[in-house]
Amino acid sequence: MNKKIIIAIDGHSSCGKSTMAKQLAQKLGYIYIDSGAMYRVVTLVALRKGLIKNGVPYIPKVISELKNIKITFKWDEVLGKNTTFFNGENVEDEIRQLEVSQNVSPISTIAEVRAEMVKQQRENGNNKGIVMDGRDIGTVVFPNAELKIFMTASPKIRAQRRFLELSEKGESVDFDEILQNVESRDKIDSTRAVSPLKKADDALILDNSNLTRTDQLKWTIEKAEEIINTK
Ligand code: DC
Repeated sequence: MNKKIIIAIDGHSSCGKSTMAKQLAQKLGYIYIDSGAMYRVVTLVALRKGLIKNGVPYIPKVISELKNIKITFKWDEVLGKNTTFFNGENVEDEIRQLEVSQNVSPISTIAEVRAEMVKQQRENGNNKGIVMDGRDIGTVVFPNAELKIFMTASPKIRAQRRFLELSEKGESVDFDEILQNVESRDKIDSTRAVSPLKKADDALILDNSNLTRTDQLKWTIEKAEEIINTK
């Protein structure tokens, strides 16, 4: 039997990392972990408890909330998608709302938040056979991952995709606001002091500005199979 590997998919926000990571995991029979969802849950809790004022989190309180946050994922058979739970409550839809997106970057710059999330992420990777997407998976969480992919696309294309996704869910959204959110998240994610978003030296770049989902999945499966079959 083929040995199982760890696949790390990092890159900019809204470039389809999780869609591709999910499809890849399904194809290989691997577990999929959405690390961004974990930072979104912490942000949701901070918002609910009033710990973020004008985009600025009250860091000591956010840190002391961490011990009360248990994040789990379950595969929803009916919807055919991964669902995120906070202490057993299904928060999948709530963590995707614009208010969470607008506040998640500052939360993810808090070193203690990152340390706790990285710990939980590594626990999940103990048995390999995993696809995890995020910003620091190939650089920090699993620096020894056998396959690392760095995904990107132009900010405008990413904003268009997110606009469509939210409109289809019935949210009333403004394109310029979304574009601004994409650009400001890129900036915060890439310049923060702790685990900034950057390509691992040994990651393969996948710019999908002009690629279909099918093309990019095919490319990635080929790369994964090359490694799995030579193990
Ligand atoms: O992938 P996403 O848009 O759901 O991620 C939400 C935020 O979480 C994003 O602004 C950056 C942060 N994040 C991170 O800092 N590290 C990760 N491994 C995943 C996400």
